[in-house]
Amino acid sequence: MTEPLLTEIDHVAIAVRDMDAAIDWYVQTLGARIAHRELVEHDGVEETLVAVAESYVQLVSPTREDSAVARFLATRGEGLHHVAYRVQDCAEALEAVRRAGNRVVDEAPRRGSRGTMIAFVHPKSSFGTLVELVQEGSANGKSTPPQ
Ligand code: CO
Repeated sequence: MTEPLLTEIDHVAIAVRDMDAAIDWYVQTLGARIAHRELVEHDGVEETLVAVAESYVQLVSPTREDSAVARFLATRGEGLHHVAYRVQDCAEALEAVRRAGNRVVDEAPRRGSRGTMIAFVHPKSSFGTLVELVQEGSANGKSTPPQ
């Protein structure tokens, strides 16, 4: 691979059981600003984006017992869930990763929160950390600065 695929860290995702308590902690203790909160129905999760410069900490909590994040919390407890990197083109990045012989979770990019396109690389291929590739809705690989 010659061109770097990753343009920035988009978010570090942390699985939490109590979303409101986690938000309070980031706001009260770290003085953080909440940029976005969204129910992602098809993944059975609620996501909250805590703004940190041009990146985010993403708090994730399950809304259903059968969601992947509910299973994660049951087996591994609260903590680091995945690291998400911005890419110019999610489909291209996913294909490059797959071509290099890696296992992927998503066969094709799909919709994430905030109108992004996302795909996950399997942690078995990425040294134990679930990796997410994020293409911003604007398709230029840059974030809109948090307002
Ligand atoms: Co994510």
